[in-house]
Formats: sequence, C-alpha cells, structure tokens
Amino acid sequence: MKVTVSVIKADIGGFVGHSDAHPDCLCTADSALARAKEKGLLIDYHVTKCGDDLQLIMTHQKGENNGDIHEMAWDTFVECTEVAKKLKLYGAGQDLLTDAFSGNIKGMGPGAAEMEFEERVSEPIVVFMADKTSSGAWNMPLYKMFADPFNTIGLVIAENMHQGFKFEVHDVKESKKITFKTPEEIYDMLVFIGAANRYPVKAVYTLSGEIAASSSTQKLAFLAGRYVGKDDPVCIVRCQGAFPAVGEALEPFAKPYLVEGWMRGSHYGPLMPVSVAQSQPTRFDGPPRVTALGFQLSEGRLVGPRDFFADVSYDQARQKANDMAYMMREHGPFEPHRLPLDEMEYTTMPQVSRKLESRFEAI
Ligand code: F6R
Ligand code: MG
Ligand code: MG
Repeated sequence: MKVTVSVIKADIGGFVGHSDAHPDCLCTADSALARAKEKGLLIDYHVTKCGDDLQLIMTHQKGENNGDIHEMAWDTFVECTEVAKKLKLYGAGQDLLTDAFSGNIKGMGPGAAEMEFEERVSEPIVVFMADKTSSGAWNMPLYKMFADPFNTIGLVIAENMHQGFKFEVHDVKESKKITFKTPEEIYDMLVFIGAANRYPVKAVYTLSGEIAASSSTQKLAFLAGRYVGKDDPVCIVRCQGAFPAVGEALEPFAKPYLVEGWMRGSHYGPLMPVSVAQSQPTRFDGPPRVTALGFQLSEGRLVGPRDFFADVSYDQARQKANDMAYMMREHGPFEPHRLPLDEMEYTTMPQVSRKLESRFEAI
C-alpha cells in the first residue's frame, strides 16, 4: 500500500526561554492528532519534541503537500499556541508567521519533511530532528549515509546499493534545484553542498527513483524578512535493503561536526546526538542537538519509537561535542565561533556603524 510520512514541526513557545517544549503543548497536540486519526485523516501519529520544537510525525494516504494534512497540522500549532500563550511560554506562536492558513504549510513558518512510497514487506524509517541549527545541518550526514563508503559499507559490499544514489540539492537563495548522481558526480556536488547553509540536500533517491531521504529546507529568516529563530530542521530516512542499514544511517552522528546555529542563531557549534529527554539546549542555548527516532511501519501504523541516541555508544560523541563546545566558546565574540557578518541572525552592525560613521577616517 502507498503511505505518506509527514513530519511537520514548529516552535510555538519555549519552556523555559528557548530551551524546551512544555508538556501541556505536547498533550494538546496529541489530542488534536488523535481526533484527526479518529476522523480517518491520519493512519497514525507520534507527537514528540526536540528542544523547543513541537514535532508532529504522521502517516496517511493523502500524498505530499496535501492541503487537509497541512491545515490540520497548522490548526494543531494554533491550538498549542493558545496553550503556550496562557502559560506565557517564551515566544508563543514564534514560527507561525501568518494569521491564516493558505493551502500549504510551506512558506508559513513551520518546517516539513514528507515522503510518499509503497510500503515494503518491512519498512524501517528513522526520523532525525535537530534544534538550534539550520537545514544545511543534514548535508554532511546525508552525504556520509548515501555516498561515503567509510561510513556506509553497503555502498561497497551490498549489491542493491553499489550503483549509488541521486541527491536533490536546493539553492535556497535563488529558489532553484539540481540533481547529482553519486558516486560519479561527488566532486561537483561537494562544491555546492559543502556550502550547506545555501545548498541544503532536499532529498535522496535510488537510481530507479525510489525516495530514500527527505528533509525540511525552509529558511525562516528569508520567509519573515527578519530573524525569527533558526530553522531547526527534520529529516526522514528509509533504511535497510536498498537503503542504508539503520546503523549506517546513525553512524554520521558518532562524529560531531560543526553546524550553524547555537546562541542567537549566530554561532558555529557541534551537533550533539541526544535522547529526546536530553534534547533541551542548555549551555549558551545549546550546543545544537539532534535526536533520532526509529519506527517500523505496519500498514502505515508507526510501530515505535526507538530513541536511538539514548544509548551508551553515543556517550563518546557527546563527550567530544562537549569538548568541541569548550573549544568554540573560548573564541567568545570572535569568528570562527561567531558566524561571518552576512550569516549572523542578529547584528548590531548597522546601528553601531551609523553611530560611528563620522569618526571613520580614510587610511
Ligand atoms: C537560537 C535561539 C536562542 C535565542 C536567544 C535570544 O536559535 O533560539 O539562542 O536566539 O535565547 O532569544 P530572544 O531574542 O528571543 O531573547
Ligand atoms: Mg524558540
Ligand atoms: Mg528550536
């Protein structure tokens, strides 16, 4: 049977500050999705959080970009925002950029990753969710999962993976996309996806066109025309068989790497793999976090989750991320901890420059 997995997320208010999602908001979202399931709109759902982001993981048969599903998710965020407002949570309704739903949740603030496929005899999927970072955060792990034999041995020794994959890469500034075939075009592709903030990997496909991975790529700052929080992206990866084994999909996160985000969305910091319970940023509003929930689909039913990073084998990654956090923090307001001027989400440069304009002299 054909199933659509939709992961739609929004920051509708933080508890405390920008750190965590409030249990009452999670409960409200759960009841809203339970009603949608009762009505038959959803096959199944799982409500969770990653830091201050409310995550709706849903299955249905309506396909991607479906107006009914998106509207129901939007209404759920609106209802949760009411709860957040009553509790005076921080930044209540932060990611809801418009007043009324207009057909598709994309471009309205919330992030969405969706994929439709024919459910296999056994269909394991992993949903990755990150807080205090942006959509380009998936570029390196997706490259490793689907194109790096040092990460994914299946690319070398599994007959059904040996022919490689296709990567759909977006240019979020100029709103265009291009598809690269790996391994043949990895050098060309890396020119682009190495600049992860501008060229996020939107999706990965097998050569026969089967969807393998799908990520959210919206840029809140472009949508709102001002800083409204980092994009805190999500990504769905299908596993086993012609796709990476679950362990190959999780492996990139064993080596923490630097991503954009962290305090005020204006710093580089290590992406730390954590359990859902440990997903709330603390130190300097971070460091950026990533969670991974695994499900087996059964006729669209979400059997799970398994909280993969709640495991001792990621202890060392967490330790390393903490060490990297100390190293980066030592730079204080200096680059390369602070982002370059044009990448920073907050800046006082225009005001300070204006104030000091008359004091600048030619040299
Ligand atoms: C980063 C983030 C936080 C806030 C910071 C200041 O994505 O959400 O680091 O930027 O806590 O928040 P405001 O400006 O809301 O006081
Ligand atoms: Mg927030
Ligand atoms: Mg967030």
